[in-house]
Amino acid sequence: PPSHAGASEHDAPVIVAHRGASGYAPENTLPAVDKAAAMGFDWVENDVQRTKDGQLVVIHDDTLARTTDVEQVYPDRAPWKVGDFTAREIARLDAGGWFDDRYTGTRVPTLRQYLDRVTLRHQKLVLEIKNPELYPGLARQTLNTLADRGWLDSDHVRRRLVVQSFDADAVRTVHELRPSVRTAYLGTPRVEELPRYAEFADGVNGAHPTLSAAYVSLARRVEGPHGRPLRVMAWTVNDAETARRVAGYDVDGIITNVPDVVRRAVAED
Ligand code: G3P
Ligand code: CA
Repeated sequence: PPSHAGASEHDAPVIVAHRGASGYAPENTLPAVDKAAAMGFDWVENDVQRTKDGQLVVIHDDTLARTTDVEQVYPDRAPWKVGDFTAREIARLDAGGWFDDRYTGTRVPTLRQYLDRVTLRHQKLVLEIKNPELYPGLARQTLNTLADRGWLDSDHVRRRLVVQSFDADAVRTVHELRPSVRTAYLGTPRVEELPRYAEFADGVNGAHPTLSAAYVSLARRVEGPHGRPLRVMAWTVNDAETARRVAGYDVDGIITNVPDVVRRAVAED
């Protein structure tokens, strides 16, 4: 029985290191994966986009400007869109120095490099298909790379992978092409719309201010495409007070740049 009012009937939320442990290492890089593993976190989140010559790379923004030294290396190539650069050009860029000198020399990883590192660390991945409207076929290509690197083999696909997107069509495409993959829609659809999303999404991952205990409980009454209650994760929760609040909503997961802060806050609850 619950030990105190509001105690959860469910497991504690999983804690997902957002863009890796991005509070402590440059986001969406191999050191951010390593940092999450070193801190004891299984789950990492990342963002996938595509280069001009069709290679998948792990980066959040649709330009290279914020998280690399592209403006110095290619000063005449504004606005430095990811899709306007080849993989070889991107491989020259420094993706760590902006964060801290200690990380100078870190590269923008390809999706292959990233997946292999997550496997090596025995971690689990929430993979975001980012800006698919800019990259026709991004969902299909991402699935092909996942398959090629072993991520659609039974253990990985059952226990280690969630594919998410803000773009409902991309989530639907993933579900239709590879029904065994667990998916999530990034957003907070109105409750009455949840059954429509549940045709192709196993979960909804919402910005934390848009969620509530009532929403989580109503979402759980809706069955996803695998016949299980929709799962709800909250993002991006970067302080203890917010972590305690969203844990009180009984969410399934909390996505955070500072996973240690969230772990401590949830443990104290
Ligand atoms: O995983 C949730 C979160 O990553 C969505 O927002 O902009 O950080 O990709 P964003
Ligand atoms: Ca993301």
